[in-house]
Amino acid sequence: MEKFNNILPDYSKAKVRSNNTTVIKREIFDLPDQIKNIGIGRKYYLRTYGCQANERDSETIAGILEALNFTRVDNEEEADVLFFNTCAIRKNAEDKVLGEIGMLKKLKRNNPDLIFALCGCMAQEEMIVKTILEKYPQVDLIFGTHNIHRLPWLLYNAMMAKEKTVEVYSKEGEVVENLPVSRFGKHKAWVNIMYGCDKFCTYCIVPYTRGKQRSRLMEDILKEVRQLKEDGYKEVCLLGQNVNAYGKDLGIEDGFAKLLEEVAKTNIDRIRFSTSHPRDFSENMVYVMKKYPNIMPSLHLPVQSGNNEVLRRMGRVYTVEHYKHLVDLLKKEIPTITFSTDIIVGFPNETHEQFLDTLALVDYCQYDLAYTFIYSPRENTPAAKMEDNISEKEKSDRLQMLNEKITYYSNLNNQKYLHKTLKVLVDGYSKKNKNVYSGYSEENKLVNFTGDNINVGDIVDVYITEVKSYSLNGVKEDK
Ligand code: 5AD
Ligand code: SF4
Repeated sequence: MEKFNNILPDYSKAKVRSNNTTVIKREIFDLPDQIKNIGIGRKYYLRTYGCQANERDSETIAGILEALNFTRVDNEEEADVLFFNTCAIRKNAEDKVLGEIGMLKKLKRNNPDLIFALCGCMAQEEMIVKTILEKYPQVDLIFGTHNIHRLPWLLYNAMMAKEKTVEVYSKEGEVVENLPVSRFGKHKAWVNIMYGCDKFCTYCIVPYTRGKQRSRLMEDILKEVRQLKEDGYKEVCLLGQNVNAYGKDLGIEDGFAKLLEEVAKTNIDRIRFSTSHPRDFSENMVYVMKKYPNIMPSLHLPVQSGNNEVLRRMGRVYTVEHYKHLVDLLKKEIPTITFSTDIIVGFPNETHEQFLDTLALVDYCQYDLAYTFIYSPRENTPAAKMEDNISEKEKSDRLQMLNEKITYYSNLNNQKYLHKTLKVLVDGYSKKNKNVYSGYSEENKLVNFTGDNINVGDIVDVYITEVKSYSLNGVKEDK
């Protein structure tokens, strides 16, 4: 067997960007017998924190573990191996994970053979890995976002050699195809179209934890979507940190507009995509969205701030005017479109007036939904070196003012659906009442509804009878 030298994360390497073209690695998942069978009679538990990229990575981790013959359990106490796929985007996300790792000591005491693995974005952070090695001896295996395909060997080493195993490559990254996947949904699927990010917004840790931007080949993406359609999937969400930059590293001009059009032509019922960066969103994209009814009229377009000086210091490389123009064009061409966004308050040196500009932008765009955050300094990012001169109280007051406005517009926007019929993809039963179904409309509105002959995975017409701030209620229409 291979001997392991622990490989730790290194921020100076994680920053490197060369002009090398994207390397596509086609994994041949042919494991030696002694590794293939390590899961026989053993159970795994997997907890995912953070964004959709992590959700999709967890589906690969689950696919690999099931290829190793492990069985999934939903209760950590029953597990022989535990995985935490972690998020590093803000400090409170990390603190939550560290707190929960602390609680695992007890499980380990009850079952000394338990293997505990930590992966995802926190595993790519130099300081976090050092802290875990020093203070959290209950962690047996640490592997990074670039090392998922190495999981069978890493886990074998941790289990059989009973050695603490750490492997975190701090490299620009490659594209690894053909890994097994165990999808968590039966009707909606995440499809990675690219990995990493080259934008280096000054507050953001993602370019360090997930490496350089690298796109999958269009033919591989289309093959995956066609297969999903054949398997009965109704909706795909094309995933990337900055989907509008798709193909730049492959030398394709306006690659995302081209890719989106080809995905639309597969005739899969519903297509969504996330996340869009306003800078790279081409006008062509607007026309592709308009042309194909299976591209959903709903867009997540993070703005971060409504003030040009703050945007400049955030390294967002667009202006408020550019953003507004894009929103205006989208609303004009696709009148049913809904918008969601991400906003940060309390970026270093953000004045009260600059914050008011953000509120004014929310008035202008009238978002349907917004994810709002207090700025959190991330080690080694340029913004973390800026003076953070806003009091905690001021930051939370700003967040509250912003959230009140967001809820106001969410409610206002929802009013227009009252007594209208929406097409809803049925996700399942409502948690509170089994006679109530729930799903999302084309506009990405959460709809709870009643009716007969409803199956999960159907797309049904729902007549809206009641409107709330963040959901709609209705009744299925019979044709
Ligand atoms: N502090 C607060 N919010 C952040 N985000 C990213 N980095 C930070 C940070 N350091 C937010 C951005 C991004 C979303 C995914 O998380 O709004 O769009
Ligand atoms: Fe982070 Fe900016 Fe890249 Fe989004 S575009 S992942 S905010 S660096």
